[in-house]
Order: sequence, then structure tokens, then C-alpha cells
Amino acid sequence: MTSKVTPAASAQESPSLVDAGTPERLDAVGRPMPEFPEPAPLRGHGPARIIAMCNQKGGVGKTTTTINLGAALAEYGRRVLIVDFDPQGAASVGLGVPTHDLEQTVYDLLMSSKADVREIICRTALPDLDVLPANIDLSAAEVQLVGEVARESVLSRALRPVLDDYDVILVDCQPSLGLLTVNALTAAHGVLIPLECEFFALRGVALLVETIEKVSDRLNPRLTVDGIIATMFDSRTLHSREVIARVHEAFGDTLLHTVIARTVKFPDASVAAEPITTFAPNHAGAIAYRQLARELIARGDAA
Ligand SMILES: Nc1ncnc2c1ncn2[C@@H]1O[C@H](COP(=O)(O)OP(=O)(O)OP(=O)(O)O)[C@@H](O)[C@H]1O
Ligand SMILES: [Mg+2]
Repeated sequence: MTSKVTPAASAQESPSLVDAGTPERLDAVGRPMPEFPEPAPLRGHGPARIIAMCNQKGGVGKTTTTINLGAALAEYGRRVLIVDFDPQGAASVGLGVPTHDLEQTVYDLLMSSKADVREIICRTALPDLDVLPANIDLSAAEVQLVGEVARESVLSRALRPVLDDYDVILVDCQPSLGLLTVNALTAAHGVLIPLECEFFALRGVALLVETIEKVSDRLNPRLTVDGIIATMFDSRTLHSREVIARVHEAFGDTLLHTVIARTVKFPDASVAAEPITTFAPNHAGAIAYRQLARELIARGDAA
């Protein structure tokens, strides 16, 4: 395990590096770090690829990743819709939408076939980044949807009218594997799993993977796990490096190369209700989320 997480040691052993004379960049688990090129501008927009940001463990960076990946993709000219699918409304608030005085939210969209999704979508300060907001009303949906016909595909149907308006739709799930999360997985093409680099990170991931497999078998055969994104990584601690090495052992190249470091700039940006990419554009956290956007584009997982 240790050899995988000591990039310096493996760099010294690599003969190609000696020949090339320039040190190869390695990622946090010692894999060569590819260059992720600046993506070419898009000629047109849509249909959107839907990505669910999912982990039933709380506080692992789902909302932070949704907001900042969304903002970074928008910087690269992608049209992005963030669906706030958590009654806490953190993604909406984090993008400057005051959730308490909204006339309609994603809850109304789920509960009424007459609701117009375009009327509920809010603009943000970034021209290519919109948000479908949520507030505490959404907490009632879990119970109210139980009696609906095709209750797992309500979100999928609700998003259909705007698929051609966007290149990427990111769904910020709440920390549970209940019916709302199953709706997000049924609507999605891919799942991104943020994992906090701390000791119990892998607890519960088996259950999450099992849920994803069930949804893929029974409701949504196109669903794939796009990647696991390590968050709150602290390269100075052996602990963080051991956790990420274990994630790599368990999931191989599903673990993305990009790693998000732990920094107080993220909570600071949340307080300012801005993505870090505009709050502190040159900060390492902003640079990391831009790299994540380029990595997903290069993998074909984002437009
Ligand atoms: N890389 C990071 N470094 C430091 N703090 C972070 C980082 N990413 C997120 N945070 C902070 O950790 C807290 C939890 O993050 P976030 O809200 O993104 O997690 P979450 O998985 O969406 O939580 P929940 O399950 O409650 O929805 C927030 O205060 C956020 O600002
Ligand atoms: Mg959240």
C-alpha cells in the first residue's frame, strides 16, 4: 500500500523518467497524471448528460463538488443546470438563490404535472450556470411520491423539456438512499461519488454501489459510475494517503486522477454564496475543480 502512495520513490525508479530528464507528474496514488487539455468550445448545445452526485454519507463534498464542477464546466462554455435535490437547499443557497422566498421549487415540479420547469429554474451570477432550486418543502416529496405511478421516474420526466437547453445537468443528492436519490439515479446517465479522505470513507460505499446496480438492472440500464472523486485530501497526513490508496485498491481506475484538497476556502466560498472558481479564481481549490471538469470532458463523461 505504501509504495503506491509515495510518488517520489516510484518516480526515481522509473527508467523513462531518467531518459526523459523531466519528472513525470503523478497523481495521489502514484499513477502518471495525464494532461487534460483545454476543451474545445462547443458548436451547439444539448442534449444534456445527467450526472447524479451521490453518497448517502453526509458532509463528504457532494454539494461543494456539484457547485464547483458546475461552475468550472460553465467556464469552459458548457451550459450547466444544477438540480438541487436536497431539502437542505445548500446548492441553491451556495449559488446565491434565496430559497425561503421562492414561489416554486423542484418540489412543485415533482408534485404537479402542470408546473413549468423553465419557470422554476433560476439564473445564477454565471451566464451558463442555472439552478433548479429546492427548499425544505422537498422533504415532503419522499412520502408523497410513494403513491405515484412510476414514482422512481418523476424527476426524469420532469427534466425532459429542458434536456436540449443544457450540456450537463448535475443533480445534488441528499445524504440518503431513499426515493429522491433513486429518482436522481433513474434520471441519470452517470454517477459521481465524492469520498472524503477519512477513515470511515469506504463504509457504506458497498451499499451505494448495490443501490446503483439495482437501479441500473431494474429502472435505468444506461446508468454507469463515472468516477469516485476523493475530497478533503490532506497530502501531509499519512492517513489521507492511506485512505486514498485503499480506495484505489478497491475501485481501481474508477478513482479519478483529480483530488480535491482540504481547505477553508470552500466553507469561505459557501458563506459568500459563490463557487470557489469566482470567489478565489487562482486558489488551488478552483484549479482542482477546473481540472476535474477537464478530466470528465476528456473521459467523455461531460460534454
Ligand atoms: N475540500 C474541502 N475542504 C474543506 N472543506 C470542505 C471541502 N469540501 C467541502 N467542504 C466543507 O465541508 C462541509 C460539507 O461539504 P458539502 O456540503 O459539500 O458536503 P455534502 O456531502 O453535500 O453534505 P450533505 O450530505 O449534508 O449534503 C461544508 O461546510 C463544506 O464547505
Ligand atoms: Mg449537500
